Amino acid sequence: MKRTSILIVFLFVFARSFAGEGMWLPMLLEQLNEKEMQSMGLKLTAEDIYSINHSSLKDGILLFGGGCTGGFVSTQGLLLTNHHCGFGSIQQHSTLEHDYLRNGFWAKNKEEELPNPALSVTLLVRMEDVTTKILNGVNDKMSKLVRDSIITINIKSTEKEALKNTHYEAKTKAFYYGNEYYMFIIEVFKDVRLVGAPPTNIGNFGGDTDNWMWPRHTGDFSVFRVYADKDGKPAAYSKDNVPYTPKYTLPISLKGYEKGDFTFIYGYPGTTQEYLPSYAVQLISETENPTRIKLRTKRLEVIKTHMNESRLVRIQYSAKAANIANGWKKWQGEDKGIKRMDAVGKKKFFESNFTHWITADTGHNSKYSKLLSAYAKTYAELLPLDLSSIYYNEAGNAIELFKFTRSFTALVKLSQDKKTKKEDLDKALAKAKTATEDFFKNYSQTVDHELMPWLLSEYAANCPKEYCPSELTALSAENKGDFKKYSDAVFKESIFASKEKMMAFLNNYQASNYKKLSREPVYSMAQHFADNYTQNIQGKIDVLRNRIDSLNRIYMKAQREMQPSKRFYPDANLTLRIAYGNILDYKPADATGFNYFTTLDGVMQKEDTAVYDYVVDPKLKELFSRKEYGKYADKDGSLHTCFIASNHTTGGNSGSPVFNGSGELIGLNFDRCWEGTMSDIIYDPDQCRNITLDIRYCLFVIDKVCGAGNLVNEMNIRE
Ligand code: ARG
Ligand code: GLU
Repeated sequence: MKRTSILIVFLFVFARSFAGEGMWLPMLLEQLNEKEMQSMGLKLTAEDIYSINHSSLKDGILLFGGGCTGGFVSTQGLLLTNHHCGFGSIQQHSTLEHDYLRNGFWAKNKEEELPNPALSVTLLVRMEDVTTKILNGVNDKMSKLVRDSIITINIKSTEKEALKNTHYEAKTKAFYYGNEYYMFIIEVFKDVRLVGAPPTNIGNFGGDTDNWMWPRHTGDFSVFRVYADKDGKPAAYSKDNVPYTPKYTLPISLKGYEKGDFTFIYGYPGTTQEYLPSYAVQLISETENPTRIKLRTKRLEVIKTHMNESRLVRIQYSAKAANIANGWKKWQGEDKGIKRMDAVGKKKFFESNFTHWITADTGHNSKYSKLLSAYAKTYAELLPLDLSSIYYNEAGNAIELFKFTRSFTALVKLSQDKKTKKEDLDKALAKAKTATEDFFKNYSQTVDHELMPWLLSEYAANCPKEYCPSELTALSAENKGDFKKYSDAVFKESIFASKEKMMAFLNNYQASNYKKLSREPVYSMAQHFADNYTQNIQGKIDVLRNRIDSLNRIYMKAQREMQPSKRFYPDANLTLRIAYGNILDYKPADATGFNYFTTLDGVMQKEDTAVYDYVVDPKLKELFSRKEYGKYADKDGSLHTCFIASNHTTGGNSGSPVFNGSGELIGLNFDRCWEGTMSDIIYDPDQCRNITLDIRYCLFVIDKVCGAGNLVNEMNIRE
């Protein structure tokens, strides 16, 4: 084939946008997606989904905290999200006596609902394309610094104008790497109370073993309620607040679904990187992911061993372990997917066609000829710095005691300074005391002690020499790379390792005592790690990342220019999006095939009384034995637990309402299948599936297992 025909074939192949791929902007749905969605089975209009003129589905969707989604299911502010999204709150309220993590929690009435000062819920009032306003005065010749400062000023004035005389807030975000800007007018509610959570053996059934996997049987949901002041406006927690009445309450369908049915998902996907050059994908899959995986494997091994041995350690480390394991497992799936799809090869192929496209036209050539070589050079420079920063974060900062010592930096600094006012010192001291209490609540010295020597020796052995903290290198040379003696001494002698010693010290603290802290070897080592990072690494990374940002903006523009008929969607950036697809099974490997839904029978098949994550809740077992599913049963008689579909999702979509074609809630998204986790970088319609908790299982657990049918009565259920 001649070059031009290769190019035509190539443009055609890449111009096809698969149903399933894409995270679309609600306000552009009518223009870009409505027809396709309706042809696939949507019975609503784009205006029903997103409207600024009347209440629409969007008013039932919320950003839960800073990284999950939820949906309103009652006129009294009741919302559903995932168990793992409410996990932090549930854990905060848990103690050995009131172990809500293990046993679940259900408020019997509104008075028993538990406030969560650190939690907020954000609603979108409207969004607006503000590209022209934000890029006013900006041109391609100016430096990034100048460009950014103009943009910041434009954003400020645009938001100020939009917010006039309202209690709303605004957030303006870059799309397509700064080629477009959208402003989001939002309302932030700060009184959000925990209403209910199932026991862990339902809400996290299968734990980290099943995480990211299909077939799945996790009842991953929790229930909260949003409160507002008497006028329905956001207010800080107060006893006088009343349940918030959302502008739209999601109707719930108990009718179920069939294979091939259309579904869509509405929520807040966090980050995707679909338009990266091959160099970036190579860095992720060959350096970043393998390094992080290696370091976390050992941490998890040690933490899990101790969680299995001690109930206290289990409570203390559940949230931490889940966090560490979540990335750890995702990166493994992502790497496999990147390799299986030959993402780097595909990107390289694209880049060679891109080069042909450039060279064929002098206009393109003058704008884009240096782009790919600039990427190559920048990523080569970034590699050792990036690796050093991973070792700093995943090894150095993985030592909990090191991180803890940094809670005292302010106190030490203020104490050293003779001009410090007493009240400022008192404040810092109070903070240090709280930090100490908080730290030891969730700390096991055994775990940290076991990990410290291993993490330090990994750090010393593998961090690129020019960026390794010098004291670490010296200590390593002195001890031939073995940090056991050092660690034993730290845990035997350091005041930081003992809550009693530390509290006694803080209770009698005077400014002149600061030396006792700053002279501690762990304190100075931790400071040294941080200083090395900020002085020797961070600035250089920032310069390179800024350069990459600028290149990405130009490359994105070029890609859109090169493929004018392709329907592009912007990368996820924690703004409200719609993804749509079909309920579908998949084949993860040769001669295997996965069904598109799971049932309660599968929970029983996975039961293992000896393994914490596979213990089946006794009440659930009893109801199963009597097959008492009531109105929650599928028409096949079984109780469906989860299902999968080809909706394009990512982290942040957790808790996102999943709808049928009529806009009825049929489930809550909570995960992706392992084989498809590379979809943040490259989407595969054959392997990418989002995992959804069937709403019927969710309601069954609330109603029949946990006895909170009163909550179901609040909901708008369509049988
Ligand atoms: N993988 C899901 C997500 O990315 C669920 C994580 C929580 N569950 C767990 N077992 N760690 O957030
Ligand atoms: N569990 C993820 C979350 O917390 C969603 C899974 C995914 O990354 O798709 O948002």
